[in-house]
Amino acid sequence: MPSFDQHLTNFNNTISDHIKSNKDICVVTHIDCDGLTSGAIITKALIRAGAKVTVRTTKEMSQAVIRNMQSDSRDFHIVTDLGGGFAKQMDEALGQNWFILDHHEIPQEEHDNNCVINAWKYGINGGTEICAGGMAFFAAKALDKRNSDLAPIAVVSALGDRQDQGEKKSFLGKNLEIVEEAKNIGGLQVDMDLLLVGRETRPLIDALAFTSQPFIEGLTWNRDASLALFKSSGIELKDGGRWRTPSDLTEDEKRTIIESITKFASSQNASQIMEELIGHTYTFPAEERRSFLRDAREFSTMLNSCGRIGRSGVGIAICMGDRNKMLQEGENILLEYRKLIRDYMNILTNERWRISDTAKCVMVNGEGIIPETMTGTISSLLAGSPKNAGKIIILRTNGEENTIKFSSRKSIGCKTEVNLSALMKSGAEKFNGIGGGHDAAAGAKITKDKLDGFLDYLEDSVNGNHNQNNN
Ligand code: C5P
Repeated sequence: MPSFDQHLTNFNNTISDHIKSNKDICVVTHIDCDGLTSGAIITKALIRAGAKVTVRTTKEMSQAVIRNMQSDSRDFHIVTDLGGGFAKQMDEALGQNWFILDHHEIPQEEHDNNCVINAWKYGINGGTEICAGGMAFFAAKALDKRNSDLAPIAVVSALGDRQDQGEKKSFLGKNLEIVEEAKNIGGLQVDMDLLLVGRETRPLIDALAFTSQPFIEGLTWNRDASLALFKSSGIELKDGGRWRTPSDLTEDEKRTIIESITKFASSQNASQIMEELIGHTYTFPAEERRSFLRDAREFSTMLNSCGRIGRSGVGIAICMGDRNKMLQEGENILLEYRKLIRDYMNILTNERWRISDTAKCVMVNGEGIIPETMTGTISSLLAGSPKNAGKIIILRTNGEENTIKFSSRKSIGCKTEVNLSALMKSGAEKFNGIGGGHDAAAGAKITKDKLDGFLDYLEDSVNGNHNQNNN
């Protein structure tokens, strides 16, 4: 089995030959943060190398997407953050004219395919040590070492995929190498700080109220309680006419806030809350202060929003360096996305019939309200709520053409042995659908007529009444 480096050399040789012979290249990528960043990194590297390149996004890989690639006039195809399980179909449709750069778990037979450049093949954990943005970054560097200036974008991708799973939200494995590289070129600053959402852009009250990890009973998602906490702590909420944000807080003020939260949460496990509330932050010093691109986690949220509301092009343009009109667009997208999330969460709270809660699993029916592209966002939020702690969350909604889309997550403290990737993949296959993902986050899609059978399968499997096929 060739090593990662050998495959990257092969990638460089193949792509360089195609560029020399003036072939057109098409990049196809996923619509989430990791998809947009990986697509942007490899596209930028190709443009720098003088390639003629087009980039497209899709919400999932399918036979139809492969047919489109086959009928497309472009000569070579690079797929990022997608395509696990489709190598055979890609071979049939495109011959040897393709590469996949990815980090999702793949079937064993794909390990032998030289067009598949996937973390797991090289003994790298694609769930925690690298994501597609990182894979694209190493491929970009194989094309030209100077592409190491794209490291900050690869950091955004890893945050978007929640790979900050080391101690105090640090990175592990290959991601650590990428962080070091981004720091060395002066493109990244890593600090230990309060982990409030919207570090550069959100008014303090909102930053605290909308931080859901840790979830603080009575405070999270409660703006009035958040306002009261700041008032009683004596912290100025405004600086002249401008709302102050978490990045404006002084060290003393941070200490005061921590004390106040500890008092507020005295009935909960205060030390655990503090443990989660302080961790590594990742800042891009070259971006303007109070820009949503300065804090790498906010950057990743903005990219997720772009894809989820159908504006992927804006996200890719920003990742490739566009800081003109696209900046305003990005900001508007972020606001719209936040409003939609609030609306959907309110509906799910009010319409209790949509939720079926058992000892091991919470099944949520989002049909008719939650768009397919937002299922991952909402299932992740549900998984962060202590009400659902220890359980598997399975959210479903309508997809295109009479399909049902499922999104599953393991919530905090979930100790089940069920591997969600295997659950979704083998289950979907039984019902002629497509599924896959990671141990703690996976999705599937089936046709509507198979819904009852699939729901029964899920219920049996999560409750341990089913022999799960782990292939
Ligand atoms: O759609 P959702 O956000 O729930 O997907 C969770 C994870 O599973 C993502 O990383 C997604 O790319 C992956 N997935 C997959 N194959 C599918 C559906 C989702 O690999 N058919």
